[in-house]
Amino acid sequence: MPQRISVRVPATSANLGCAFDCAALALGLYLDVHVTPRKDREITVQYRGETPERIPADETNLIARTIRQTLEGWNKARGFDLEIDNQIPVGVGLGSSAAAIVGALAACHWLADTTLFDEQLISLASKLEGHPDNVAAAWHGGFTVSLQHGERVLAYSCPVPDTLKLVLVVPDYAVLTEKARSVLPGQYTRADAVSNLQRAVALAAQLFSGKADFHRAFFHDRWHQPYRAPLIPGLQDVLELRHPDLLGVCLSGAGPAVLAFARANAAEIGEAIRQLLAAHGITSQPHVLAADNLGAKGWSLPA
Ligand code: HSE
Repeated sequence: MPQRISVRVPATSANLGCAFDCAALALGLYLDVHVTPRKDREITVQYRGETPERIPADETNLIARTIRQTLEGWNKARGFDLEIDNQIPVGVGLGSSAAAIVGALAACHWLADTTLFDEQLISLASKLEGHPDNVAAAWHGGFTVSLQHGERVLAYSCPVPDTLKLVLVVPDYAVLTEKARSVLPGQYTRADAVSNLQRAVALAAQLFSGKADFHRAFFHDRWHQPYRAPLIPGLQDVLELRHPDLLGVCLSGAGPAVLAFARANAAEIGEAIRQLLAAHGITSQPHVLAADNLGAKGWSLPA
C-alpha cells in the first residue's frame, strides 16, 4: 500500500485556432495532486493555489469526486487525504478540469494498484471530460492530436520546439466551457469545414516535422472563435493584432485566455494584448511560458 501518491499534470491550451476539439499544447503551468490513503472511508481536501474562489475544497471537488467514483467503479472504495497545489487558473481555457481528471485517474492507478495503460487513461478521462483534446495533451505533453473512435481515444504527440515563444494572456474572469460550447453551430458548410481542416493539417505537419515556421493563416478559424467572440470582450481586436514577431494568436480552448506564438519579443506582444483587452475594460495578466514536453508524471512512495 503506498504512503503518498503525487501526480503533476500540465495545463493545456486546446484548439490552437483551427484545430477545434482535436489538438492541444501542454504548457509549463502545473497542477500537483498528493493523495494519502486512509484506513477509514473519510475524504479530506486541502487546496492551495490559483483562483481558490472557483474551487470547492470538500468532497464535491472534481479531483476528490473523480477518485472516489473511479475507486467505487473498481470495487476498491477507500478514504484518502487529498492535497492540491495548483498553478492553473480555473475557467479560463487552460484545461484545469482535464488536468484534475487526469491527475485523479493517475492517482487511482496507484491507490487501487490497478494498471491503467496510456490509451485506457485518456479514453476514460475523455469520457469524463466530454472531449479528448485537453486530456490527451495533459497526459502526453507537447503538441498532441487526438481523435475519438467509439469508446477509444487515439492520441499522437510531438515536442514543441523551444524556438517558439508562447505568450499567454489570462483575463480576470471565467467563462463556463458548457456556455462557450452552447453558442457553437450544430452544422458547418463544406467551405468552413475544408478551411479549418486545411489549417489544422498544416499546423500539425509543421510541428510533427520539428518546425515552427508558422504562417498567420494557420490560425484563421471558422468553427468556434467567431461564435465565441461575443462572450469575450476584446477577442476580435486581439485576433487582428499585428507585430513583426507575432506568428499567430488564438483563443485558448474555450477562453477567455488567449495564446500567442512569437519568434521574439514575447513580453512586448503580451503587453500589447493586455492593452487591447484593457481598452475593452478587461483586466488581464500576460505570461511568457515554455511548453511542457513531458506530460503528466507521478510518484508513489511505498510503505
Ligand atoms: N475543445 C474544447 C472547446 C476545449 O473548445 O470547447 C475546452 O477547453
